[in-house]
Amino acid sequence: MNLANKVGVEAMKKDVLSITDLSRGEIYELLKSATDLKEKRKAGEPTEFLKNKSLGMIFEKASTRTRVSFEVAMTDFGGHALYLNSNDIQIGRGETIEDTARILSGYLHGLMARVMSHETVVKLAEYSTMPVINALSDQEHPCQILGDFMTILEYKQHGFEGLKFAWIGDGNNVCNSALLGSAIMGMEFAIACPKGYEPKAEYLEKARALGGKFTITDDPKVAAKDADVIYTDVWVSMGDEAEQEKRLKDFASFQVNAELLGAAKPDVIVMHCLPARRGLEITDEVMDGPNSVIFEEAENRLHAQKALILKLMR
Ligand code: CP
Ligand code: NVA
Repeated sequence: MNLANKVGVEAMKKDVLSITDLSRGEIYELLKSATDLKEKRKAGEPTEFLKNKSLGMIFEKASTRTRVSFEVAMTDFGGHALYLNSNDIQIGRGETIEDTARILSGYLHGLMARVMSHETVVKLAEYSTMPVINALSDQEHPCQILGDFMTILEYKQHGFEGLKFAWIGDGNNVCNSALLGSAIMGMEFAIACPKGYEPKAEYLEKARALGGKFTITDDPKVAAKDADVIYTDVWVSMGDEAEQEKRLKDFASFQVNAELLGAAKPDVIVMHCLPARRGLEITDEVMDGPNSVIFEEAENRLHAQKALILKLMR
């Protein structure tokens, strides 16, 4: 009986570890559902779709947006979210990821994890019978990109195709997901980063295989030219702190400022996954300026993740 149940759940469960775990059609469906959930929330309509369901949230790294938005999402759905700091659960004392995944599958209906190494989230998914969501790894941040795409559609209602997305900064986890997501949705992707900070070849190859059109330059103005979206992220990601001094020097000419915006389309939207280091990768003037959609983008994390957990956990 247990085994049959287990097999049944395993056959049905879907994990989202990479943005490529979702097709273009699925992403459009999620964005539609997210918009609907956003309207319902603003209207105060009840949405108790996950009553009595529990989501585990393992964090190996700090978080403001991801933690709060997932937790509130479960509250809105009438369910429960458990914050599990990796230092406070037995994983921090050497219990294996495999055992943790098996055990948590007996209690929970879904799991999200923010991890140091992408391998951890892959293993959690492999040994869980519940859906597993990557809430940021060193390689990808798919939940971020769903909220970002929702925001882009709110401003560029004709859709993604034909848009130019300029990534100014490190070829990091968020960049990887944005690159792959853009390839899936048909956006042109222009990366400006100092030499040596490009996304790994593996991600460039994946984007190519998805039919993605992308360019890489070390001149931010070339990437920003006629852009519809300018996106930046911190120069020193969580886990890269040892390289801080070198990175701050290498990225000094990669700031998103008013001069850079001058190269883009007049209706360019400026995005940042946050947290921002104001005065480094982005100026106050741009972050708080008329082209910035950064705070709506942060709010949309909630609505987009609600759509995602509903798809995976309902
Ligand atoms: N953008 C993002 O994931 O923010 P947090 O690190 O605060 O969760
Ligand atoms: N690239 C950043 C994103 C934070 C949401 C980091 O990994 O720290």
